[in-house]
Amino acid sequence: MRSDFPNLFVFDHPLIQHKLSCMRDKTRSTMGFRQLLREIALLMGYEITRDLPLTTQTIETPLCPMDAPVIEGKKLAVVPILRAGLVMAEGLMELVPAAREGHIGLYRDHETKRPVEYLVKLPDAEGRLFILVDPMLATGHSAVHAVDVLNRHGVKDSQIRFMALVSAPEGVRTFHAAHPDVPVYTAALDSHLNENAYIVPGLGDAGDRLFGTK
Ligand code: URA
Repeated sequence: MRSDFPNLFVFDHPLIQHKLSCMRDKTRSTMGFRQLLREIALLMGYEITRDLPLTTQTIETPLCPMDAPVIEGKKLAVVPILRAGLVMAEGLMELVPAAREGHIGLYRDHETKRPVEYLVKLPDAEGRLFILVDPMLATGHSAVHAVDVLNRHGVKDSQIRFMALVSAPEGVRTFHAAHPDVPVYTAALDSHLNENAYIVPGLGDAGDRLFGTK
């Protein structure tokens, strides 16, 4: 955690860093880009879930009964912000197949430049941890809006973790000004946003590179 960005966690694991560099390369194929994002999401998910509380359940092994550790409480919820978040969610769902998957679809209103919802489908909130995912934390407006949506559906900030592949300092500041208690987990804190709100050096348009669109 950096003192100038409280509640931001940058994963410096060599595998995550190497795979991210492969993704940034503009010659990477659509197939390679998707596969790498799934792999990084899985590795980041492993770190993000490290502190989940455990309880014990009595089971019978072939030799004897035992009190075996199992994750306490309700299943996790993975919530991608559409559409770029979908592939990160796939990686997380591979790691935690029993998780529930919600969806938040947002588009950018051309006049107000603000996010507008077009789809919200979420599991019940009570006692559940939500991992909200979007590969690029750029301006922070979509991320703030998505947490507002979760709040409206009864999910408290203390139940949410936000996972982004690449973040811009501007986006992290905007996000934490609105939701200081929601931790942000990212693989890189890049330099800045350009005049078109792209992250620099970044990796370009994550949605287009994931889905092979223009
Ligand atoms: N969204 C992207 O896909 N890329 C950026 O650099 C910023 C926002």
